[in-house]
Amino acid sequence: MSLLSVKDLRVEFTTPDGIVTAVNNLNFELDKGETLGIVGESGSGKSQTAFSLMGLLAKNGKISGEAKFEGNSILNLSEKELNHIRAEKISMIFQDPMTSLNPYMKIGPQMMEVLKLHKGMSHKEAFETSVKMLDAVKMPESRKRMSMYPHEFSGGMRQRVMIAMSLLCQPQLLIADEPTTALDVTVQAQIMELLNDLKKEFNTAIILITHDLGVVAGSCDKVLVMYAGRTMEYGGVNDIFYKPSHPYTEGLLGAIPRLDHEGDILPTIPGNPPNLLSLPKGCPFQERCHRVQTECKKESPILETFDDVRQRACFWKGGA
Ligand SMILES: Nc1ncnc2c1ncn2[C@@H]1O[C@H](COP(=O)(O)OP(=O)(O)OP(=O)(O)O)[C@@H](O)[C@H]1O
Ligand SMILES: [Mg+2]
Repeated sequence: MSLLSVKDLRVEFTTPDGIVTAVNNLNFELDKGETLGIVGESGSGKSQTAFSLMGLLAKNGKISGEAKFEGNSILNLSEKELNHIRAEKISMIFQDPMTSLNPYMKIGPQMMEVLKLHKGMSHKEAFETSVKMLDAVKMPESRKRMSMYPHEFSGGMRQRVMIAMSLLCQPQLLIADEPTTALDVTVQAQIMELLNDLKKEFNTAIILITHDLGVVAGSCDKVLVMYAGRTMEYGGVNDIFYKPSHPYTEGLLGAIPRLDHEGDILPTIPGNPPNLLSLPKGCPFQERCHRVQTECKKESPILETFDDVRQRACFWKGGA
């Protein structure tokens, strides 16, 4: 049994201008200790996918489909059931750590509160466990840091605190939504290395959300490429990188700076992500696609499974 199994996951928002389908029938599986990258441009539905799994959708959102964690459905649960699952089974790191850390509370008490609440630890136990976790995320002088406020940390250090907090209860699944976007490149690389180390140490499965296909190369086992809420392509990381089967993936790959092509003009995807309220008939990517054919404008390609485990939605059958 997979740790997480998602079938036909769909998220629709009711807005004054109509229904926005932010997540359009996703299918994916995640095993213990595995890392799945969810990649796509801004607005492709990556965060809403994560929010739907964590029970964090906005009030105007509606979920359908199925998501099973260790065989049990986790969609549309009560607040009480969700509180148990969050932190203890699945935890999430948000893009901006300041939004999930309390600015008026020292780091130590924030961490200890989680352990007291979820694990029933004593003050002393919670203190020592928090220090250990700060050590695990390579926080220098961890004991001293326990009595500091979030604003006293640098951006990279705050993200380490967030990672430490999210792992306190040893969840089996960590969802990291753009964990390094706000950081400079060197710190980004350090945080990714840290996540990789922690994954090995705690055998945590990770869903890594990013708009940067370059970030997933060194850390993911599988990749889901999203566009306009849909799966464009899904498969093992090597297939995605070396045998991309969708023109959108090709475009994203072209946007990765490569050392061996220094100085070259990089091909990028022309145009902008689509407006979900006025998608064209047919494939949502047609207007920006360098392999567009007449049928792409007539109907939407269905999501097909090939090579046993790969998925793609495209009339172009090359690449793979
Ligand atoms: N409450 C809401 N009501 C209506 N539409 C919404 C709501 N929340 C999100 N959306 C829309 O859902 C779509 C997907 O949003 P989502 O946040 O998942 O994108 P994303 O892939 O995470 O993008 P980014 O890389 O910018 O974080 C967007 O078009 C967004 O405008
Ligand atoms: Mg997002």
